[in-house]
Amino acid sequence: MTGKERVSIRFVINGRPVSMEVDAGETALHAIRGRLGFKGTKEGCGMGECGACTIVVDGRAVNACLLLAAQLDGRDVLTVEGLDSPLGLHPLQEALVEHHAVQCGFCTPGFLMSAYALLKENPSPSREEVLRALSGNLCRCTGYEQLLRAVEAASQKMNPRR
Ligand code: FES
Ligand code: FES
Repeated sequence: MTGKERVSIRFVINGRPVSMEVDAGETALHAIRGRLGFKGTKEGCGMGECGACTIVVDGRAVNACLLLAAQLDGRDVLTVEGLDSPLGLHPLQEALVEHHAVQCGFCTPGFLMSAYALLKENPSPSREEVLRALSGNLCRCTGYEQLLRAVEAASQKMNPRR
């Protein structure tokens, strides 16, 4: 084999269609953060252990460092940059601020994306379900209680009649 194999992909990111050529071995993290400039998707361990790079692909939270960019072809991708709207912050973002669940902020986008995917699939999760959904996201600053409370508060705000 000579040189690097290149692959053409098309996908939607934060509601916008994108076409690009990627190396066959390039990670989704490199394509999204490094080349498309969505810097909210953080690079931590690069090994699937910290969750800082979490994005939502077709509704599921995944580690962008473990996904090949080529696997984004045809997918619908959401990063933290696509979470708020012209009306303001997403309720999860508001809840993290209100519950003092953000300190250095490095882990925050990953937590938000994992929590977003959880609440999409399960609008009223139990504490155990929240814990399980966030178990792949590490935070070195806050302790996890504030993060858990924030996700529960956002869930209640988004589904007030539960
Ligand atoms: S950078 Fe992807 S899980 Fe740590
Ligand atoms: S707020 Fe600093 S790592 Fe979580």
